[in-house]
Amino acid sequence: MNVQYYSRANPMTAQTSLQTASLSSVPEDWDRSGLPPWTYNNTELLELEKELLFRCHWQLAGHAANIPNPGDFLTFDIVGERALVLRGRDGVVRAFHNVCRHRGSRVVAEEHGTCKSALFCPFHGWSFNLDGTFRSAPMPRSLPELDPVEHGLIPVEMELWHGFIFIRFKPGPQPAIAEIMARHEQEIAPYRLDDLVCDGGFWQDDIAVNWKCVRDVDNEGYHVPMAHPGLQDLYGKHYYDEPIEAGTSRSFATFNESDAKLWGVRHYKKVLPEMPHLPPSHRAAWLYIGIFPNTVIEFHPEGISYYQEFPQGIAETSQRGAGYTWPDQSREANLARYLGNRINRDTQDEDVQLIIWSHEAMSSSGYEGFILSDLEYGVRNYHDELRRLMPVFNERTEPPPGTIALR
Ligand code: FES
Ligand SMILES: [Fe+2]
Repeated sequence: MNVQYYSRANPMTAQTSLQTASLSSVPEDWDRSGLPPWTYNNTELLELEKELLFRCHWQLAGHAANIPNPGDFLTFDIVGERALVLRGRDGVVRAFHNVCRHRGSRVVAEEHGTCKSALFCPFHGWSFNLDGTFRSAPMPRSLPELDPVEHGLIPVEMELWHGFIFIRFKPGPQPAIAEIMARHEQEIAPYRLDDLVCDGGFWQDDIAVNWKCVRDVDNEGYHVPMAHPGLQDLYGKHYYDEPIEAGTSRSFATFNESDAKLWGVRHYKKVLPEMPHLPPSHRAAWLYIGIFPNTVIEFHPEGISYYQEFPQGIAETSQRGAGYTWPDQSREANLARYLGNRINRDTQDEDVQLIIWSHEAMSSSGYEGFILSDLEYGVRNYHDELRRLMPVFNERTEPPPGTIALR
């Protein structure tokens, strides 16, 4: 399916200015009502989502650029799982459960850092080599014989894709990341993802909402003209989304030809140098590639970012991300990076408010379900993926307690 839907400068005139040829591929009789409200408030369903979506699908933990030297590590906590990604003395990046083999303590407490020659568990001091093998324990005669490999840190499935570190806690329905991303390879090749360097490290914010409210807002661009003055000023005339196909979605926007009204956008466009390594179509454009279920990688001419969301509770969601640039970046491009990030920060703040209001609606007696526009087909398309994986999402009324996992 290759459905496209477009955001326009003025939502009131969108219907007349739409590219009807593209919209004709949206099914005529599609259900516009969205997921039933109970699915945003049910803790049993949340446990199923944690298992089937978050543990069994690829999660982006960072980029090799975040751990450039031997001994560098990052940790990644999600839905009760704890990952430790570590660059060994041999330069190889490996992922493990951040769970000590003695009594399960975190082996590494920090989110990011460097260890010299070994990891020392902060509980009783068991140590592990930088390749995850068990090294030693205090008072070894009080313990049975411990084998370096058998009692080493337990590996987590990991795949490096152009330096991006994808991990998966449990086997799932997705193929390899390289296969999922194959259809985008040609387009992303000029962005030199293997050469990235860190630009500011990780960020993480918490919002008191169900995680699906975050994804629902991110899955459509219909709200851009009304809610995101910066993005609208930058690329509102040309923004379009392509919903999920074979596990990824794609959004693309070339910059408006007219002069920007907002200071930050005007200066961003002014200082952004021409990037000869990108094709002309992408030198003044932002590209977003979404990877089901919760990750978006953002491609700007002057840098790369990603963001993701994951549940901490039924009404508690963390958003996390990181930014990257290139080591040979010019001063002008770095300035553009600063201004581009500023546009994104404002956009994120604007989205947080919309996400909170969406979440509140799910508990309101006055809420009767979405009435989705064709321009929000991506929301429906994402919900269909959820329904396919978990048929319980088809239930319009909340199933009795104890029955969610059986449906
Ligand atoms: S839990 Fe790690 S040394 Fe005891
Ligand atoms: Fe938004």
